Amino acid sequence: MKVLEITGGQTLSGTIRISGAKNSVVALIPAAILADEDVTICNVPEITDTDALCEALEYLNVSVKRASESLVINASKLQNKEITIHYSQKLRASYYFMGALLGKYKKVTMYFPGGCAIGKRPINLHLKGFESLGATVTSDDNKYTVAADELKGANIYLDIASVGATVNIMLAAVYAKGKTVIENAAKEPEIVNIATFLNNMGAKITGAGTSTITIVGVDKLHGCFHEVIPDRIEAGTYLIAGALVGKYLKIDNIIPEHLESLTSKLEEIGAELEIGADYIIVNKGNHYKATNIKTLVYPGFPTDLQQPFTTLLTQCKGKSKVEETIWENRFMHVPYLEKMGADIEVRDTTAIVLRNTPLVGCRVTATDLRAGAALVVAGLVASGTTIIDNIDHILRGYEQIIEKLTGVGAKITLKEI
Ligand code: EPU
Repeated sequence: MKVLEITGGQTLSGTIRISGAKNSVVALIPAAILADEDVTICNVPEITDTDALCEALEYLNVSVKRASESLVINASKLQNKEITIHYSQKLRASYYFMGALLGKYKKVTMYFPGGCAIGKRPINLHLKGFESLGATVTSDDNKYTVAADELKGANIYLDIASVGATVNIMLAAVYAKGKTVIENAAKEPEIVNIATFLNNMGAKITGAGTSTITIVGVDKLHGCFHEVIPDRIEAGTYLIAGALVGKYLKIDNIIPEHLESLTSKLEEIGAELEIGADYIIVNKGNHYKATNIKTLVYPGFPTDLQQPFTTLLTQCKGKSKVEETIWENRFMHVPYLEKMGADIEVRDTTAIVLRNTPLVGCRVTATDLRAGAALVVAGLVASGTTIIDNIDHILRGYEQIIEKLTGVGAKITLKEI
């Protein structure tokens, strides 16, 4: 079994260059099939979620060429086969094949998607959106077929500002006849990046980044070059690590505006930050005070940083409250933080960090991607050695995490035990 071994207490200084955003690229890769020409995506992170989607493309007979940080995708010979349970359940973002294949071929068959077990994660809003565009959804247990004779633009109100549903409806609507309006759309930066990509391919999308997105259907999309935005969650994870053990730790190649909810909380507890145009330098502060966070849709505090931030709160004097409003099951890291010495009480979707306690390394498990990130951060500040197992979760979303952390002075190694 592969584990991460971390010897805590090392000071981190130097520069960490942030990779392309996972939650953007996992939509861009399926979206690339909407054209029949070469689509080049740059700044693609080398993470296992990217690999899984490229394998799914190859299964669909799509040509995928990888060169350094770029992917060149050509879907001119795509065969619209059923996406098997294997490809569907490898990751959450396989569901973007639903919108893309439905948009282009008016038919898709796939299984309920996989991904981290952080909640029930229904796809009812995606399906409701497809139905509004004129598709019929049939399901047999876990298998869904979504098909239409013709897709027609519609007004779609999302009951929840869902990232996945917003993207999937955009993908399905780019070839629909007429105008689609998504109300209460998600506003995450990744949505803007994906809409820009589709527009680069010839789509007509306006309003991405606001709660009303308008898509005017077109007849054809063409190839394009596109760059993935920096990963704000990867950047935020390393900023939190820097707040714990950083000395002039530079988090580089980022869009600081995407991290404002985090940086204002870091400043509030007492971390020292220097915010530049495309970087943030973080220094560990001397005395951290407790604070409260509540996860919200963008631009609120991101749920994907709640888990690593909870680790930081174990080092803040006083009682802190963490309210998780997006996912029902996102405190699986807490028992392991407690095993390391934290004093935390969980009631439903709220965790109370009761006081600051030193953390001590021990054997822990990454139950999901960001739980794993929370434990890596904990291992960096803990005394002694932390061993994290189930690290495949972490490798799904953090490119070269070992190399990046080692490069700034951490003692972290991958071991086979
Ligand atoms: N929801 C529904 N019905 C739907 C869709 C969503 O009830 O049809 C609910 C969800 O159960 C959840 C809320 O709406 O309670 C928000 O879900 P959303 O659809 O926005 O999440 P997602 O698209 O499945 C993406 C990211 C997640 C991130 C969330 C929120 C990807 C592949 N995943 O998930 O990232 O937490 O948005 O920002 O983009 C991660 O990177 O660790 C991760 C889990």
